[in-house]
Amino acid sequence: MNPENKTVIITGASSGIGEAAARRFYESGSRVALVARSADRLHALAMEMGGSTDRVLVAPADISEKGAAQRLVEQTLQRFGSVDILINNAGRGLFAAVGAIDEADLHHLFEVNLFGPLYLIQAALPVMKKQGAGIIVNVSSIVGQVATPMSGGYCATKFALGALSDSLRMDLRGSGVKVVTVYPGATNTAFVANVLGTTPPRETPRGFAVQPERVAQAILRGVQRESRDVHVTLMDRLFVAVGRTVPRFTDWLLPRVW
Ligand SMILES: NC(=O)c1ccc[n+]([C@@H]2O[C@H](COP(=O)([O-])OP(=O)(O)OC[C@H]3O[C@@H](n4cnc5c(N)ncnc54)[C@H](OP(=O)(O)O)[C@@H]3O)[C@@H](O)[C@H]2O)c1
Repeated sequence: MNPENKTVIITGASSGIGEAAARRFYESGSRVALVARSADRLHALAMEMGGSTDRVLVAPADISEKGAAQRLVEQTLQRFGSVDILINNAGRGLFAAVGAIDEADLHHLFEVNLFGPLYLIQAALPVMKKQGAGIIVNVSSIVGQVATPMSGGYCATKFALGALSDSLRMDLRGSGVKVVTVYPGATNTAFVANVLGTTPPRETPRGFAVQPERVAQAILRGVQRESRDVHVTLMDRLFVAVGRTVPRFTDWLLPRVW
C-alpha cells in the first residue's frame, strides 16, 4: 500500500521506533495519529512536524486500557475519515530468569504487548473490512522467533504477538486487510532503560544495535510491499535461521554471549 494520503495509527509514538516511524510515515505523506501515554512528548513531536492539525492527531492513551482502543479509532475516524494502517508498536521489556519473574510484571507486560494490540485490532478491523482495505502491522522482535535467556516473559509476549498475527492473516483472507509482522533486533532506544524485572540486561555489543530510523524504514517498506514478515538486518535473519535450524546450538551459545 502506498502510505501517501493514508491514515496511520501508530502506538508508542513518543519514543524510539514508534517516534521514528511516525516521522517516516508523515514524510511519506500519511496522516498520523500519534498514540502513547506521554502527551507532552506527542505534542512536541506534532509541533516538530509543523504543528499542522490536518495531518497529525495527538491521541494520548494507555493501550492496556480496554476502552482506549475504541476511543482511538473513533477519534481517528472523526478527524481523518479512515483508518488505513494500524501500527501496533508500543511495548515494554522484562528481564528476569523465568524462576524469578514477578507475576504482576508479566500480567502488565501481556496487557501492553499483547492485549493492547488485540484491543486495537478488534476496534480497527470493522472499519478496515468496511473499507475493503487496510494493513495491520504488529511489531514483535527476533526474540519472538527464537527465545533468549533471562527474558522468558518478554519472549512469551512477542511469540504470542507473532502467533496472533499469523492466525489473523489467515482469518482475513479475502477481506482486503493485510497483516505485516515486524521482527526487529537490538535497536538503540529507551527500551532497555524502561525494562521491568530483576536482572539488568547485558549491553548489546557495539555495532549490533541499529538506529530506530532503520527499523522505521523497514516498517515503511513492509507496508509498501505488504510483506508477510519484516526483518531489519541480515544479522537478524541469520539469528532466526540458526536458532530455528539448530536450536541445540543456540541453547548452548546464547547463555554464554547474551
Ligand atoms: N529496542 C529494541 O532493541 C527492540 C528490539 C525488538 C523489538 N522491540 C519492540 O519495539 C517496540 C518499540 O520499542 P522501542 O525500542 O522503541 O522502545 P521505547 O523507546 O521504550 O518506546 C516504547 C514506546 O511504547 C510506549 N508505551 C509503553 N507502554 C505503553 C502503554 N501502556 N500505552 C501506550 N504506549 C505505551 C512508550 O510511550 P509512553 O511511555 O509515553 O507511554 C513508548 O513510546 C516495542 O514493542 C519493543 O518490544 C524493541
